Amino acid sequence: MEQRKKTLSVKITFQIFIAQFFLSFILFSLSKHVKLSVVMQSFLYTSIHQEPTDVSKIILLWSWPFGYQFPLNDCPPSRDISGCFYTTNRSLYSSADAVVLHHRDVCYSSKQLPQMPRPPNQYWIWFNIESPPHTPNLHFMDNLINLTMSYRYDSDIFSPYGWLEPNLKEDSFAIPPKTKLIAWAITNWNPKSRRVQYYQELKNFLSVDIYGRQHLPLPKTEEKKTLSQYKFYLAFENSIYEDYITEKFWRNALVYGSVPIVLGPPRQNYERFIPKDSFIHVDDFSTAEDLAKYILRLDRDQKAYQQYFTWRSRLHPVSPTGWKGHYCRICKALKEAPKRKTISKLGEWYK
Ligand SMILES: *[C@@H]1O[C@H](CO)[C@@H](O)[C@H](O)[C@H]1NC(C)=O
Ligand SMILES: *[C@@H]1O[C@H](CO)[C@@H](O)[C@H](O)[C@H]1NC(C)=O
Repeated sequence: MEQRKKTLSVKITFQIFIAQFFLSFILFSLSKHVKLSVVMQSFLYTSIHQEPTDVSKIILLWSWPFGYQFPLNDCPPSRDISGCFYTTNRSLYSSADAVVLHHRDVCYSSKQLPQMPRPPNQYWIWFNIESPPHTPNLHFMDNLINLTMSYRYDSDIFSPYGWLEPNLKEDSFAIPPKTKLIAWAITNWNPKSRRVQYYQELKNFLSVDIYGRQHLPLPKTEEKKTLSQYKFYLAFENSIYEDYITEKFWRNALVYGSVPIVLGPPRQNYERFIPKDSFIHVDDFSTAEDLAKYILRLDRDQKAYQQYFTWRSRLHPVSPTGWKGHYCRICKALKEAPKRKTISKLGEWYK
């Protein structure tokens, strides 16, 4: 009995295999654009994953971002990657519809960019989520890039550190129990930076628990538990640029359930992404002392403090960790991309 079941399942698998082979073959014959190697790849891929074989867009990651690897072709349904095939195999360069260049992996020498002749309809996608001072040698990219992907709202593919989504029925939020006042996690302590100088002023009026290098330890696994005990979180950006609002704001403060006190681009810039009653901006106060007084007042006035959470009955913050989410946006964007576009001077925009 056991033996017969096995034979049967082998037979069925073999039939699926044959069916997929013919489907791939027909597809290959129909499509002028899809190369055999790709059809074979998608064929092999679907034999494992049981997904459709109609790959029409090959997306080549020229490198893993900073060397970090993650599963490809594995995206949430909301990102719909049907018809796309992601790969890091550079042998597919000449059949790739898009090549994704992560800036920091290609910016130190022009030799780091693809050297082979460029197929005429291929898009080069510039990907970067570092702020301008951490984005060297932008001129290497002049007249090469077709589409941009970054945290800038006006990128061709807008890929922020976090965003808000409407609540579904099952989403409910309760303010986490609060036992402490203000936290700040900081790795790069630069005494000349605006954020450290602001802190030096602020600490004269209230005490801030500081986590990170040379401060209180904050292992990744303890992050949520630790930071959610605080009523406020200092979401101070390391540099001030349009739309440069990082995971400090989205994850450390909002996702973990505290009220962000932000130092970054102007208030209106934050309000492009999030309701105005969800955060406190240092620019709302003429001095750090005034900010401190306001914080201490909110600390005593539970009702006023809770006002900062009202928006959460409608919306919730999302801030995925890792790189995959950025790349998952590319498939859909590529299908909707302008037929022709080249960015002549990236550095004139990204500053
Ligand atoms: C890359 O693709 C080429 C051509 O399809 C194939 O021969 C090769 O085995 C692939 N390499 C890897 C590491 O998958
Ligand atoms: C991308 O930019 C290159 C370089 O300027 C250009 O030759 C090519 O036509 C552009 N491709 C698309 C699809 O816009």
